[in-house]
Amino acid sequence: MKYRILEELKSRDKEYISGEEISRRLGISRTAVWKYINRLRQEGYNIESQTNSGYKLVQSPDILSSFEIQPLLKTRFIGCEILYFDSIDSTNTYAKKIGEENMKEGTVIIADEQTSGRGRLGRQWMSPKGKGIWMTILLKPNIAPSEASKITLAAAYALCTALDKCGLDVRIKWPNDIVVNGKKLCGILTEMSADMDIIKYIAVGIGLNANFDAHDFDSSIAAEATSIKIETGKYISRKIVASYILNEFERVYDIFIKEGSIKSFLEEYKRRSAVIGKEIRVIYRKEELRGKAVDVTEEGHLVIRLEDGSTREIISGEVSIRSINGYI
Ligand code: BTN
Repeated sequence: MKYRILEELKSRDKEYISGEEISRRLGISRTAVWKYINRLRQEGYNIESQTNSGYKLVQSPDILSSFEIQPLLKTRFIGCEILYFDSIDSTNTYAKKIGEENMKEGTVIIADEQTSGRGRLGRQWMSPKGKGIWMTILLKPNIAPSEASKITLAAAYALCTALDKCGLDVRIKWPNDIVVNGKKLCGILTEMSADMDIIKYIAVGIGLNANFDAHDFDSSIAAEATSIKIETGKYISRKIVASYILNEFERVYDIFIKEGSIKSFLEEYKRRSAVIGKEIRVIYRKEELRGKAVDVTEEGHLVIRLEDGSTREIISGEVSIRSINGYI
């Protein structure tokens, strides 16, 4: 009911609507209208009231609920179902729970805060309230499990084109970090459940640092992490950025599924690479390989030229990439 009232307020586009009209249209008492209005105010909606005119929505908070994001989407299926949580352990963990059930492809789980956000390689992912976009997109592609890692590349590419719209010059640190000015802005954690030759679901988790100030980062990551706010000097509306990401993700994912390959955006992916042409270290478990990153293949593998002149293809997964001097 709270959201039905919000719809009524939004439909008036910053004009007053009387309590009586809302109560008549929704079939509830005027006292009930007043109670719901107060609840909305507690959530951060700025609603003015005037004795003879009623209520007017002046400003909506930057909440990542379906109610706020869906009007900004141009998608056919990504985000048609959005499950929003004020606080959750991890959107990927939740996605994996509902992934086993009969969920719709394109369902998005999004949270204002994660209490046990997970990163790659068993790392923690810092996800404080209101500072970022912590979300997971559930997919059910009809492709072979061996092709699934290409979805991470597609997601990284879609994130770049979405973040272009925020005025940032972002790069991809293969396979799945989005960096700007040499610091990490966003990470992707792709998890899959599959039988021998069929995918049950894929959970693409996206963690984007939106409105962190430099002092918000834990000292262990402060030197390597950044946010949209730090880079642009401006607070950013998370719901707008979330909608850019979901719109771009569907566009790129559609191409990948239709063509069964990453070929048509691979050149652009490579142009955006933060590692091609750089001397890097590849760390796989306890082993380290050094060489120059020279290419990304249609399989989504990173090609490096080793110091002895030979080339090696690296498959994403358990590897971590560093430049010779640091993060990138
Ligand atoms: C990484 O770079 O290590 C990947 C980070 C992925 C973080 C996101 S936040 C939303 C989703 N839920 C999680 O617990 N992790 C991913």
